[in-house]
Amino acid sequence: MARTHYIAGNWKMNTSRAEAVKLAQDLVAVLKDKKGKYMIGVPFVYLDAVSQVIKGSNIILGAQDVAATANGAHTGEVSTEMLKDVGVQTVIIGHSERRHEIGESDELINKKVRRCLSEGLDVVLCIGELLADREAGNAETVCAFQLSADLAGVSAEQMAHVTIAYEPVWAIGTGKTATPEDAEAIHKFCREYIAKLYNQKVADETIIQYGGSMKASNAKDLLAQPDIDGGLIGGASLKADTFAPICEF
Ligand code: PGA
Repeated sequence: MARTHYIAGNWKMNTSRAEAVKLAQDLVAVLKDKKGKYMIGVPFVYLDAVSQVIKGSNIILGAQDVAATANGAHTGEVSTEMLKDVGVQTVIIGHSERRHEIGESDELINKKVRRCLSEGLDVVLCIGELLADREAGNAETVCAFQLSADLAGVSAEQMAHVTIAYEPVWAIGTGKTATPEDAEAIHKFCREYIAKLYNQKVADETIIQYGGSMKASNAKDLLAQPDIDGGLIGGASLKADTFAPICEF
């Protein structure tokens, strides 16, 4: 099965309610005739409003995080049940801002991944090395560790619902993008590693997005690489005019 280009926006902690609704309306209009796979990762409090706007469109509603447990006494958490109730279909898990600002562990990330998959939600699992890891020559080791730890207990069948987003942490929000060749090298490595964890079919079918300062001006070269199947876009996803051109390639 051929992999479709999958372009996802990660709005992070941005927009007001009115801006979120307007951005969603603009995206519905500009993406309506496009043939790829598109998702927006919306702040929790605006999911319901955005859900009403994109209903029936070709845009998937995503959340930026989820609780690892079912409904109950967990102050401040948001469950898979709640996300599904407002129309969420996929969840970004393990973003580097949660790993490094909040201290989410691979163990917790793995619980969240398994919880989503068992509850019928798709997952965009973010992995990627810090600058120090890259400079020490450990980029591959870090990605391999995160893949095996975060996907522990996930079956080959469930992998059909998992997208990997490779996001070198030093490239996120910094304007520094990995060169297409450097990014491709890690994507290829990750695909081979997924083949080791599962099998070649799973590896061939898993969508691996690149993330980190992706924008219209560099997306074409990145997406032309054989193992780069899409993007997870932060800054450039906050305006339809900067996001839509990335969806053209
Ligand atoms: P950026 O963010 O495009 O602003 O670098 C990407 C991400 O963190 O998902």
